[in-house]
Amino acid sequence: MKIHQIVFSPTGGTEKVCQYLCEGLGGETVFTDLCLRADRLQVPSIEADDVAVIAMPVFAGRVPAVTVERLRGIDSCGARCVVVAVYGNRAYDNALLEMCDVAAGMGFRVVAAVGAVAEHSIARVYGTGRPDAADRDELAGFGRCVREKLEGAVGPDTLCVPGNRPYRPLQKGPAPQADGRCTGCGACSALCPVGAIPSDNPGGVSEELCISCMRCVSVCPNKARSIGPVEAMVTERLKPLCTVRKRNELFV
Ligand SMILES: Cc1cc2nc3c(=O)[nH]c(=O)nc-3n(C[C@H](O)[C@H](O)[C@H](O)COP(=O)(O)O)c2cc1C
Repeated sequence: MKIHQIVFSPTGGTEKVCQYLCEGLGGETVFTDLCLRADRLQVPSIEADDVAVIAMPVFAGRVPAVTVERLRGIDSCGARCVVVAVYGNRAYDNALLEMCDVAAGMGFRVVAAVGAVAEHSIARVYGTGRPDAADRDELAGFGRCVREKLEGAVGPDTLCVPGNRPYRPLQKGPAPQADGRCTGCGACSALCPVGAIPSDNPGGVSEELCISCMRCVSVCPNKARSIGPVEAMVTERLKPLCTVRKRNELFV
């Protein structure tokens, strides 16, 4: 039995959460990076007795449409899976339910679901430094619980997770722009998961293709990319919703 970590993590928080969970889950791990551009994606080969840990960030209460599309390109082989929605200390809204629905629709048997907090990738003052050491211990503990369930020791067959259908409508966010500090190094273009930044014009961005995942902002060595004044507006708007430390949750 292998553990397939199937992860979309533009700014690294989702990947850390998944890694900490898998520390408790144990076993041989195979990593699939859904953040690679479509032409570079490697489809994992999952066997029926493997377990997939599918981890995605929450964008406006949903999971990014592109990740769902990429996930659906994978053959579940009827394997068991754990879904993980990682959010920036506001709320995961319908994202966990959506992930359960998508995974079940692909033929995965969803055995557990996790809602976990990481630093907010737009308003970095919320969830700063998370997942932290306390989260790491807790997530590893969740992983051990899931392992017990996989070994048949605990838990019912059906999962009940929070969320509503129909899900909230998908929202389009701002496309980060480059300023005068851009040297044209191309790091953002090479790492953009959707190819929204042309390699022959790394200072540009396609508003149409951009999914506002903030990867270009986080990888720029010169801090040349930003969403400008929108960042301060979002930070202010989220203040009443984000200042209290939110919990990680396990559903088994
Ligand atoms: C466009 C966008 C929308 C977001 N919407 C939410 C949200 O609805 N609720 C929330 O708590 N965090 C939200 N976040 C924060 C991310 O869910 C969180 O920072 C996540 O850890 C990012 O994953 P990553 O570090 O793997 O990129 C949003 C972030 C972005 C970029």
